[in-house]
Parts: sequence; structure tokens; C-alpha cells
Amino acid sequence: MLSQIQALAAELTPRLIEIRRHLHSHPELSGQEYKTAAYVAGVLSSCGLRVQELVGKTGVVAELKGGDDPRILAIRADMDALPIPERVELDFASTQLGIMHACGHDVHTTVALGTAMLLSQLGERLPGKIRFLFQPAEETAQGARWMIEDDVMEGVSAVLGMHAYPSLPARSIGIRYGALTAAADDLEILIIGESGHGARPHEAVDAIWIAAQVVTALQQSISRTQNPLHPVVLTVGQISGGRAPNVIADTVKLSGTVRSLHPETRNHLPQWIETIVAGVCHTYGAKCEVVYRRGVPSVLNDPALTELTARCASEALGDENLLLIHEPSLGAEDFSLYLEHAPGTMFRLGVGFTDRAVNYPLHHPKFEVDESADRRRGGDYGLR
Ligand code: NI
Repeated sequence: MLSQIQALAAELTPRLIEIRRHLHSHPELSGQEYKTAAYVAGVLSSCGLRVQELVGKTGVVAELKGGDDPRILAIRADMDALPIPERVELDFASTQLGIMHACGHDVHTTVALGTAMLLSQLGERLPGKIRFLFQPAEETAQGARWMIEDDVMEGVSAVLGMHAYPSLPARSIGIRYGALTAAADDLEILIIGESGHGARPHEAVDAIWIAAQVVTALQQSISRTQNPLHPVVLTVGQISGGRAPNVIADTVKLSGTVRSLHPETRNHLPQWIETIVAGVCHTYGAKCEVVYRRGVPSVLNDPALTELTARCASEALGDENLLLIHEPSLGAEDFSLYLEHAPGTMFRLGVGFTDRAVNYPLHHPKFEVDESADRRRGGDYGLR
């Protein structure tokens, strides 16, 4: 069967490169994937799949019915692009001003479409059902939740996802057992002091100075109170407060992101942060409000499915192209929400150019994909 699948894939490659280039030149922002969704639905219908549109707002779901095995494998692809002006010169560069497929979701959509096109030709030889989940709004970490609220995980036995990765060479696949990405939560802290004359600090409670103490205390406490083997990254990315240079600020708002890998660590973070912030504020006479909002959990890959993915990858691509990823990323990925409903695994697809000194990272305006990731070693379809 593998050689037949490989022959079909080779046949489909020129069409898939065309699809990917179309998607690349027509990127749409999170939650606005109307044209992308219509295009995806069109391709899926043309290969005979049952297609449902407007699932999870702008998502598309399609099901491929194989043999009698009652199990359903879900394959998830995200479709949204980013508000980044593209700075790569390509014939198929973005036609949308200030919007770019800088995270490779055009590749994810194409790979899932290619999988649907290919597997639909296998008919009954496909044992169970495959449900394709074309998800919107991954970049804003909303799409997976929207899809799940529309019951796309109903009856699913396992779920697969992948992400393009420029630091792995094209044609390779990176797998990781356990945590692949981090949990990402939002933090908001309001510090309420008392205003006063800039020359008379003893008559006021300076919220700016206390905010500085809070940021320092949080960063220092991570190094002294958190298990260094269970990483926590806390970044205060926004700070606002104050009215005039000579007026002591009465309120300061801090906003940030909190990343962690271990569920137990994540569970104790809200209380830990609250205690430190309240302690500092109390010491200096301010009041505080701390809001900790849980975002997406960590992607925790299922060991058995990761093993299966590894076996398939080495059979299809050769052992030398199967790479073990040693460290997780502290980035976030809402694929993790599907894993709350079924076991699954997410792998990384190499899209890096081996003949270039620099492969720009994801979310970079010069991010670029080596399409030969879609091509068997040694093959050349004359499309480069
Ligand atoms: Ni992405």
C-alpha cells in the first residue's frame, strides 16, 4: 500500500503546489477565512467527500468513509494567516496588503487537502473513517474551541496535527514524545495606589514604583520558588499608568503572558502570582486586582500515537529523515484543546532550505517554505 500511496502522492504534487501557492497569495486573518474556507470546501467536494461549511464559525469539516472499522481518525489543519506585511519576493506573494501566511498554515491546509485527495482514491481499503478538520483562528487561540463547541470531536478515536517548521530540513519530520508546546495563559494586574504631588511622595502611594517592585518580585520568585526543571516564563508585555510627569500615579495596569509545560505547575500558578502581587502591594500600602485567565493547555503527545507516527515516517521517508525533537517549545498551539477529547499527536514538518544559511523563523516577514517537503527525494517537478 505504501508504494501505491507514494505513487499517488507524486501524481498529486503539481496540483498541491498550485493549491498551496493559491492559498499563499490569498491569506486571510483569523476568523475571516471566508474565501479560504470556500476554496477548501470546493476541493473537498470535488473528490467526493461529505463537506460541512461554517463549522466553528469559518471552519470546514469533511468526512471520508472507508471500511467497516467504526473508529474515526481526525486530521486537523489550521487555515488562518497573520497581520504581517510579506517581505519575500515570490511569484505567488500575498495579494492582501499587510497579511501573510507567515506561520505556514497554507502548507497545513494543502497537506490536509492532499491527504483527503489521496485517501479518497483508496476507497474501502481505508479501514475506518477520516474526519478532516479545517480550523479557523489558530493564531488567536480561538478556532479549536469554536470547532469543538460545534461537536467536531464527537466519536473521534484519535487526532493528528502537524506544523511546518523552518529549522528542520525539508523532507524531514520531527516528532516529540510528551510536551510539544506550552500552556499559555493571560495575566492582568491592576495596582491601585493614591495620587499626589510629585514632590511629596510621603503623602501618596506610588503605583508606578509598586508596579516595578511587583514585576521584579515575580521574576525573582520564579528563580527561587519554582522547580527549575518545570519551566515557567512570565512576561509582562504591557504596562500603563500615570497622568503627568509631576503627579504620582494612582493606578497601573500590567498585562502579560504566562507559559508553563507541566499541568501541576500550571494549576498552582494563579495562586502563586496572586500571593506575590498581594504581598508586595500590601507591604507598600496599595490595593491590587489579579486576573489570571487560562488560555490553551500544553500539547501533550500520546506515546502510542507518537510511536505510530514515527514508525510510519521512517517507513515512508527513511530513518535519516525522522528527527527526534529533544526540547519542547514554549510557544502555544490550540491543537491541545482537541487532545482534551481524544488522544493524539502533533509532529513538525521540515520546510527549511538545506542550501541556505538562514531559514527565517515562523511569524517572520521573510519566512519561506521549501516546497520540496512535498516531493520525494530526488524527484523534480520543475516547479521551483
Ligand atoms: Ni502556526
